[in-house]
Amino acid sequence: MVKQTVSSPIKLVDYADATGLRGRNLNFLSDMNKEQLMALFRLAEMLEPYTRTGLNLMQGKTLCTLFFEPSTRTRLSTETAMNKLGGTVISESNPLQSSSAAKDESLWDTLRTISQYADILALRHYDDKRVFADLPAATIPVISCGYGHVTHPTQGLLDLYTVWRVKGRFEGLKVLITSPDLSRARSGQSFALGLAQLGADIIYASPKDLPTLPEILEKVKSYGVNVTEVFDPTPEEHDELIMQSDLVYLPGCRIPKGGAERDLYMLYKDTFYIGLEPFERAKKEQGKIIGLMHSLPRFAGEFDFNIDNTEFELYFKQVGFGLPLRMALIVSMVGI
Ligand code: CP
Repeated sequence: MVKQTVSSPIKLVDYADATGLRGRNLNFLSDMNKEQLMALFRLAEMLEPYTRTGLNLMQGKTLCTLFFEPSTRTRLSTETAMNKLGGTVISESNPLQSSSAAKDESLWDTLRTISQYADILALRHYDDKRVFADLPAATIPVISCGYGHVTHPTQGLLDLYTVWRVKGRFEGLKVLITSPDLSRARSGQSFALGLAQLGADIIYASPKDLPTLPEILEKVKSYGVNVTEVFDPTPEEHDELIMQSDLVYLPGCRIPKGGAERDLYMLYKDTFYIGLEPFERAKKEQGKIIGLMHSLPRFAGEFDFNIDNTEFELYFKQVGFGLPLRMALIVSMVGI
């Protein structure tokens, strides 16, 4: 807990230390407790004014980004965060083609090698089991930028930070996490772990054969909040779930075009389509502004893009809040 007194004003470093992240890996959102999460959010808020001008906290430090899967937001915002902090960035965005992984170098050896160039690594990988087996080879802190289907903690953190900045609280909020495939929705898994820890109630909606991962569900329930699973809702029932909620979260589909598992998502896409109507009806009947969140990327047919220009839109605000959040994360993990 960070304490402010008249004789000792709160310093950035106090919040960075209070996150407990210095020198550690970030694998799951549940690696951080409630106080540590709030310290990170307060640090991100302190850094917001510097997302344009920059602040030299990481001079002489190097971030490496190593992405075994495609990305726009996570890689570019992590790199921008380090640039804004005055550090340097080395990047490998297509390792299976252009790194020695293409010559069958193991992830273990790659991590040992990068540890000698960089002070922090941001890693995205399709195989969470491979990552967890080889992570001990890294001697620098590693930020998970998405491992397999199970975890995407920086996305979860920026989603939580958005909720905190927009709503100012977590307790008493009801959040609908809905997807044609929750079983592969790693951003949804991470967001739920944080929401539950911070006191929000969760409703999951999905096809019965593609529910949220049991190990994540068990952990989410262990925080004692109300958790409801709704399977195979009709479009009308789905609209009712939206109207019962304060926030609606769409984890999006993480399977690249051409991937076989993407077909499952497409199979149920129409049933889970989100229109503007329930948002407008909730405002008219209940005076409630329901925020629509999405981890992005999105594609046509998931929801009504006219929501972009309404007060319900939060998904591009999430993108904006991602930058100070990732600056705070780098500062906390490397240390000032
Ligand atoms: N939200 C997210 O992970 O987006 P990218 O795949 O573009 O990084």
